[in-house]
Amino acid sequence: MDQQPHVLILPFPAQGHIKPMVGLAALLCHTGRIHVTFLNTDHNHSRLTHLQALSTLFPTLHFKSISDGLPTDHPRTLQFFPELISSIKSVTKPLFRELLADSSRKSERPVTCVIADGIMSFAIDVAKELGVRVIAFRTFSACCLWSYFCLPNLIQEGQLPVGAADEDMDMMVAGVPGMEGLLRRRDLPRICRIQLNDPLFQFFLVETQAMTRASALILNTFDDLEASILSHLAPLFSKIYTIGPLNALMRSRIGDGVPRSLSTFSNLWEADNSCMAWLDSQPLGSVVYVSFGSLAIMTRGFFMELWHGLVNSGKRFLWAIRRDTLSDAKGEQAIPVELQEGTKERGLLVDWAPQEEVLAHPSTGGFLTHSGWNSTLESIVAGVPMICWPQIGDQQINSRWVSEVWRIGLDIKDTCDRSTVETMIRTLMKDGREEIMMSMDRIAKLARDCVGQGGSSYHNLDMLIEDIGKI
Ligand code: UDX
Repeated sequence: MDQQPHVLILPFPAQGHIKPMVGLAALLCHTGRIHVTFLNTDHNHSRLTHLQALSTLFPTLHFKSISDGLPTDHPRTLQFFPELISSIKSVTKPLFRELLADSSRKSERPVTCVIADGIMSFAIDVAKELGVRVIAFRTFSACCLWSYFCLPNLIQEGQLPVGAADEDMDMMVAGVPGMEGLLRRRDLPRICRIQLNDPLFQFFLVETQAMTRASALILNTFDDLEASILSHLAPLFSKIYTIGPLNALMRSRIGDGVPRSLSTFSNLWEADNSCMAWLDSQPLGSVVYVSFGSLAIMTRGFFMELWHGLVNSGKRFLWAIRRDTLSDAKGEQAIPVELQEGTKERGLLVDWAPQEEVLAHPSTGGFLTHSGWNSTLESIVAGVPMICWPQIGDQQINSRWVSEVWRIGLDIKDTCDRSTVETMIRTLMKDGREEIMMSMDRIAKLARDCVGQGGSSYHNLDMLIEDIGKI
């Protein structure tokens, strides 16, 4: 029997999870010694039309798919998240058990290690039950993950939920060691604003604790960025492999073996590359890139406030706005003339941008972002300072660290109106730029160093590869 290691990678079925995990798959297969089966849901598998091309570049990389239990025409957007997680538990879990058991019984190359998304804990339990080693991969920042581990503590102290009408959201939170004097109520993960018995809150509470049943944890972060918080997480896991920023590590380890970024392969939406030619025609560092990632939704009112703020700032902007972003798009109203004119003069709107290329483009000078963790890391790698308008999940806490700890951006959470957006863009693109750029350059260099030979993420990937190789 073939003794080469065979890793089964199972991402949660969302863009921000698939992309870094495809990156990890490519890095493992680049060794030529590790076989990887990447398991998407049937629904995403049919959307990821370019993924198969990766198997040509990495012959030991294979793709399979599994049902998420929802009907084909189900929207699977953020509003339906509870339906998705419940369906995954009832339908996908038994299918996954069957697949893994078949691999042990019938396959010539049985799975020797499962790498399961940190919010797919059923895979941890199934793998353990079948005697297969399992490692968790959490796509969050370490700072956010640590705050999730502190939720039971915050509940016990009666600090949750936050956000009642008369509550002072700027009050400091005690009970998250390492973040004293930093974390305000409004910076807590978004789920802290919902009722404690809400299935979503319970889901994250349970999934976080469940991760510790894995034999180790992989994080897409780097030691120099989050060392203080990683030291709080360390006692909870027998091993933590910090191997981020994954997009930069790929470039360092695989180099010209793959195109500039893996986004082409792991995008659920087709990128509109025409914006690159538009960027080519803009002055150096003059453009604000705007994107709120793959899940965020907003009302038409917010959308218009943002748009006014962008136009009123007088700066150039490239806005990637998914068609399904508006939560109340019905009954489209006319676009005010000043927005149409201002956008024609200085802006461009696309459905989905080739984000890593946009951030690396010399014309891009700032990033108005939702502070998703992939986007934050991509901005750091590109050395582009941020304005943060966080929406869900980990974004509230990421943006606090961006502005107050790393000092590489401005945080406008909970205050999104046209005048704030206008002022912040002007500040980031001119007046307040110098100090932020000094921090940005320093942190971007740390990111580059950690993925180079001798760097921590480079070394940790070697350790992970070595440990996976011990069959
Ligand atoms: C969410 C969370 O916020 C994130 O922290 C978590 O780890 C995964 O779920 P998401 O909304 O998808 O993530 O944001 P983000 O983590 O930033 O990922 C979005 C990805 O899509 C990025 O890699 C970005 O490069 C890509 N993207 C986004 C594009 O390629 N084009 C676009 O137009 C927009």
